[in-house]
Amino acid sequence: METQRELEQRALGEVHSAVDTVELERLRVRYLGKKGELTARLRSLGELEPDQRPEVGRWINELRRSLEEALQERRRELAAREEASRLQAETLDVTLPGVPPSWGRRHPLRQVWEEIEDVFLRLGFDVAEGPEVETEYFNFEALNIPADHPARDMQDSFYLHGVGPGLLLRTQTSPVQIRYMQQEAPRTPLRMVAPGRVYRRDQLDASHSPVFHQVEGLVVGPGVSLADLKGVLSLFAREIFGPAAKLRFRPSYFPFTEPSAEVDVSCPLCGGRGCRTCSGSGWLEILGCGMVHPRVLREGGYDSEEVAGFAFGMGIDRIAMLRYGIDDLRLFTQNDLRFLRQF
Ligand code: DAH
Repeated sequence: METQRELEQRALGEVHSAVDTVELERLRVRYLGKKGELTARLRSLGELEPDQRPEVGRWINELRRSLEEALQERRRELAAREEASRLQAETLDVTLPGVPPSWGRRHPLRQVWEEIEDVFLRLGFDVAEGPEVETEYFNFEALNIPADHPARDMQDSFYLHGVGPGLLLRTQTSPVQIRYMQQEAPRTPLRMVAPGRVYRRDQLDASHSPVFHQVEGLVVGPGVSLADLKGVLSLFAREIFGPAAKLRFRPSYFPFTEPSAEVDVSCPLCGGRGCRTCSGSGWLEILGCGMVHPRVLREGGYDSEEVAGFAFGMGIDRIAMLRYGIDDLRLFTQNDLRFLRQF
């Protein structure tokens, strides 16, 4: 009886003080498993005196039952504790404020580029493109600027002699006029704008950059006149600079137009009264234009007796500066977010 009570106390005590469910399972096997201590005792009943067997047998069965109960209860306790600590360890604080992704925006030059495109798209123009690496033929010759023409000096160019003969970074978007006409001739009417990057050998300062942007425009058709040119450009100016914008046409010279004009817009900053930006004149130059030279029409594949055309070219950077009152071109390319976030 002594060893029975000892066994009982040891088994129950161990179950009660088991620290986790793994240990508990080990105890179950040790006492109740096929090779467990209680099973062994049950098997060895036969070695006892016959009159002792029923009593010892009952005791073993009772101990088995109370061990099973104790195991179950302890298992429940330990499982709950393990669950709690697992949850504790896996806690995810979903109330932590997130990191909001910051919204990007289009560069101010790109915004103005697209606004200009939009104005002309609404007028029925197509948008065309040309290569930034251009040939002398498209950039100069076809535009009536022969090799010895002084106009070439005004557009000091980046030549790509090492890449191929007669190749340069285009100094203007005007070569797209020729490319577009040669591609579309003899279709009329032609209406296209060609925005893009252009390159000139200039020192970077507040108003000069070796890389800048232009929008070229070209309209070709029977009976196209200077009045059409003025009408289209006046409408353009009102769309971009506001309904009060006025234009001033000054006679000028370009090899690819005849007659030619330079166009000023009434200063959008002072309304034409005169301020620092317009140097007190009330006007700002925004583009060059004219009636397409007959030689240029012919080079494009058109009969200059049958059709006429007008063309214009404007600087996107300059228009953006006027629109927003920006006084330094370099701000566009310095990637200063304090500047860029304002647009
Ligand atoms: N290509 C000229 C420049 O870069 C601008 C220009 C003037 C374009 C008159 C034209 C035009 O189409 O008709 O200075």
